Amino acid sequence: MLDRYTYQSALAASEAIHWRIEDIIGGDKRLDFTKPFMPESLAHTEPLTFLTEDEKRILNQIRGNAYLCIFGLVEEFILPFVLDHARQQLRGDDYRVRALLQFAGEEAKHIQLFKRFRQDFEDGFGTKCEVIGPPEAIAAEILKHDPLGVAITTLHIEWMVQRHYIDSIKDDRELDPQFKNLLKYHWVEEVQHAKLDTLMVEALAASRSETEILSGVEEYLEIGGFIDDGLQHQVEFDLQSFEEASDRRLTQAEKEEFRRVQLRANRWTYLGTGMTHENVLNTLGWLSLKARQRVESVSPAFC
Ligand SMILES: [Fe+2]
Ligand SMILES: [Fe+2]
Repeated sequence: MLDRYTYQSALAASEAIHWRIEDIIGGDKRLDFTKPFMPESLAHTEPLTFLTEDEKRILNQIRGNAYLCIFGLVEEFILPFVLDHARQQLRGDDYRVRALLQFAGEEAKHIQLFKRFRQDFEDGFGTKCEVIGPPEAIAAEILKHDPLGVAITTLHIEWMVQRHYIDSIKDDRELDPQFKNLLKYHWVEEVQHAKLDTLMVEALAASRSETEILSGVEEYLEIGGFIDDGLQHQVEFDLQSFEEASDRRLTQAEKEEFRRVQLRANRWTYLGTGMTHENVLNTLGWLSLKARQRVESVSPAFC
């Protein structure tokens, strides 16, 4: 085994954390639309020099809303995947069953939390922002893939959450405290998920030959390609949402620049930060050096 993660320690860490959706949002806990929601290292609004400061903030908030929606989407496939994985071995290791069910319960809570925030966003932002979906269709498409490919995708997503919070969000004092709080509470539970994902990937790869492992990695890359298609659509939605919210029509040249900068920003946010995460690469390298090298050969396109 690659690491020191165990079901027992992940469960103990998870049980020590207690928060309810009502503790984070509702009553006077509301989004502040005078502030940015996303860190600039993920939003990439500054390179769009033809936008005013107010317009950059509007685009930043559109990206924040999309961030919640995209996490809502991916958690819709993670929840049934973890339940299916737990169900295959309900006897034997009690800590394993309890840790995986705790993981699933937290993911169901996160789905609801993101929906709740999205409602607050819609109530306060003023105009409608379209997002890719529907979640069930995206989840069904991802779950058609080899379970090892799905498990590596989940590993990627949950280490990515760690990286976003620690590298970009934690020390950013400009962000709306309410939005930042949401990301903090999400992050604190995702730490355990990332460790359990590592154990899931190891379990799914344990009886496979190297060829079978590499085939699972190709399916992970296919899922990445599917997500990338979705991101290209999301950039178009964000462009429409921006024009409507700011009441500004961009020129053709400005639209091209918007698409170029924002596609790169989206690719980095959802693909690059996960594919290049050291813990994802270490797990892949433990499965097979070729698996790690394959992903390293593809990741520069998303960075
Ligand atoms: Fe989550
Ligand atoms: Fe999670």
